[in-house]
Amino acid sequence: MPTLLVHDLDQVATPAGGPAPLRGAALGEVRVLEQAYVLCAEGSVSEIGAMAELDRSTLPDGLVEVDGRGRVAVPGLVDCHTHACFAGDRAGEFDLRARGATYEEIHAAGGGILSTVAATRAADEAELVRAVERHRGWMLAHGTTTFEGKSGYGLDRDTELAQLRAVRKAGGVPTWLGAHAVPPEFDDGDAYLDFALAEVLPDAASLAEAADVFVERGAFDVPQARRYLEACREAGLALRLHADQFTELGGIPLAVELGARSVDHLEATGDEGVQALAGSAVAAVLLPVAALFLGRPMPPGRALVDAGAIVALATDFNPGSAFCDSLPVVMSLACTQLGLSPAEALAACTVNAAHVLGRAGRIGRLQQGYAADLVLLDAPDWRYLAYHLGGEHVVVVVKEGAVVWER
Ligand code: NIG
Ligand code: FE
Repeated sequence: MPTLLVHDLDQVATPAGGPAPLRGAALGEVRVLEQAYVLCAEGSVSEIGAMAELDRSTLPDGLVEVDGRGRVAVPGLVDCHTHACFAGDRAGEFDLRARGATYEEIHAAGGGILSTVAATRAADEAELVRAVERHRGWMLAHGTTTFEGKSGYGLDRDTELAQLRAVRKAGGVPTWLGAHAVPPEFDDGDAYLDFALAEVLPDAASLAEAADVFVERGAFDVPQARRYLEACREAGLALRLHADQFTELGGIPLAVELGARSVDHLEATGDEGVQALAGSAVAAVLLPVAALFLGRPMPPGRALVDAGAIVALATDFNPGSAFCDSLPVVMSLACTQLGLSPAEALAACTVNAAHVLGRAGRIGRLQQGYAADLVLLDAPDWRYLAYHLGGEHVVVVVKEGAVVWER
């Protein structure tokens, strides 16, 4: 693989703040180097420095160069919560919601998640791979170089496993969301979990890195979530929860008790939940697009950061509650709706998101020895990433030292 030199960058900006995960004041520390270069060799960052110090005599033959003039570099963004593997769409449901129906009403009537389950079950594995690759392309165009992808739209053995393989084939980090909803062929959540844990978990455990459960009325309650997560932990999976999206059912105490990697959503979380997460090792993954898309209250981002919790941000990309693949839009909402600074928003979807995926030693920073995943913005200041709502400043994306996308 040729060595890559990105030269004459106006800025190189990266989260600073010490070892991951970042919390409190460390979340807001960003290091900015002006008039800089980034050198990438064998998939990793080998040097970052000021242009004045670049010694061209040491560069190898066959060097690939990218002109960074007028551009800034930030780390490749990490989307640690997506449902990128699905077939069909929910445009009709979106239309109904625009005319007053609520997400929960549609779910209770057998639509919502279950309508995507029907479409996903009807697709074959090759179609699912193509769907994830298509969605990966959308994410890449907004600077996402690493994405997590959940199952949860199969809820039968074959489709759940096909979803996990499809995410993996498309280069994503697979999470088994085996407890997303109770599919129509089961009478209740316990009967479904009997099946999922006996028939799907043994194979899901070797395909996925983590397990996830939707703790919510109409989905799974805390005793069911505990049973599912304990079995998944036993099988070697990291644990994640969708909790407090609509109601505070006790997902946070359960996440803390079980030592989960993260608890995600938190639109309904109150002070007690914030305090429970404050000193814990469980990351709060905030999904402001889901709140916006469903017209729900925003999660308490500022309070969580101030309390010292580990905060990450993600898109929640899915066809029902967050049809949005852009982490820059998420960062923008984090600044305008959650009260985070641009630096906190950057760290939350790089370093801390990498931590949620168990990869904080390799991705999420522009630093020597880290993966050469970087995003070039056609902008004078890295903060344009969050500042320009819906702005399309991503012009070049580099993954493991190779240019993989260009505008
Ligand atoms: O994170 N809340 C549960 N699951 C997804 C939505 C999935 C869907 O609506 O298809 C979420 O919002
Ligand atoms: Fe989700």
